[in-house]
Amino acid sequence: MIPVCVPYLGKKEERYLNDCIKTNWISSAGEYISKFEESFSQYCGQKYGIATTNGTTALHLALAALKIGPGDEVIMPAFSIASTAFAAVYCGAKPIFVDVEPDTWNINPALIEARITKKTKAIIPVHMYGHPCDMDAIMKIARKYKLYVVEDAAEAHGAEYKGKKAGGFGHISCFSFYANKIITCGEGGMVLTSDKKLAERCQRLKNLSFLKEKRFWHEELGFNFRMTNMQAAIGLAQFEQIEKYVNLRRKNAVLYTKFLKDVPGIQFPVERKNVKNVYWMYGLVLEKDFPLTREQLMNKLRDKGIETRTFFISLHNQPVLKKIGLAAKEKFPVSANISRQGLYLPSGSGLNKQEIKYICDSIKELI
Ligand SMILES: Cc1ncc(COP(=O)(O)O)c(C=O)c1O
Repeated sequence: MIPVCVPYLGKKEERYLNDCIKTNWISSAGEYISKFEESFSQYCGQKYGIATTNGTTALHLALAALKIGPGDEVIMPAFSIASTAFAAVYCGAKPIFVDVEPDTWNINPALIEARITKKTKAIIPVHMYGHPCDMDAIMKIARKYKLYVVEDAAEAHGAEYKGKKAGGFGHISCFSFYANKIITCGEGGMVLTSDKKLAERCQRLKNLSFLKEKRFWHEELGFNFRMTNMQAAIGLAQFEQIEKYVNLRRKNAVLYTKFLKDVPGIQFPVERKNVKNVYWMYGLVLEKDFPLTREQLMNKLRDKGIETRTFFISLHNQPVLKKIGLAAKEKFPVSANISRQGLYLPSGSGLNKQEIKYICDSIKELI
């Protein structure tokens, strides 16, 4: 089976991880954590990094650090993973959905202003599948209405908008290092910001709100979102090779597009002018004239030993949000359509040209 994605680990990861074991630094103190935080934040153009247990806790921590809470509204794309909406709900805030652009699958800036109310506190742009959002337009709206921008860059390590890295725009931004991400540490996340006070607040909140000055004294509810030194060791080793991983993803995307370009009825991922798409996952949206349904295509590819995944299910259709009265009544036609018709092909950095050719030939053969 060609899996959708497998982590791509090597000797360096092994060496750094062994170092943690040999030196006994296996918990959430240790120098790999600060090295990983410093180097990754610098790479993304932010001053401070706060490592967390995963991308979902990074989002939760970011919103909690901004004091987003009950009565507040947070604008986000209707098309995203549940984590984006859950983070707002964990804080007691209401997620407000906005439909996405048909080509990039990112939040549509032209539709944001209509969703802003007196309760709006933040916008979460999600750089979907590695394509950066239209950050100029989003930052302009945020400035106009004095809103925080919390980038969800969980899928966009190394992506660029007008030469600047994804994760470098927001007041605060969040990454995931889950095993299928462009760089990974198994499970892991990071919050980035250039605001010193906010960074200190994140460091404190992620560590049960222990006070530095007075041990075991807590003035605020905190969390245990601490990453271990072992995760950071793998994360740092991966980070030190990030350009290689980004280039592999981009190379795979070029091959897919080249081999599939004549297949009718497929919408391919785009790379808009002035951006660098890192193609975290190579997604396709099947159009009306594609001869198979998405499920038929996925089942037939599975029979040929090729694993695929459906796109996310639009957040406005999530039963849990409906149950707690947070699902939107509005329609989000683009998000609904790509949720129904989208799938992604194997996209890991370890994929080779023969495998990509086999996957594309299989699709052509099936239709
Ligand atoms: C856009 C987005 N945000 C947040 C997350 C959550 O990250 P994690 O799985 O590390 O909690 C993911 C995970 O895939 C994601 O794709």
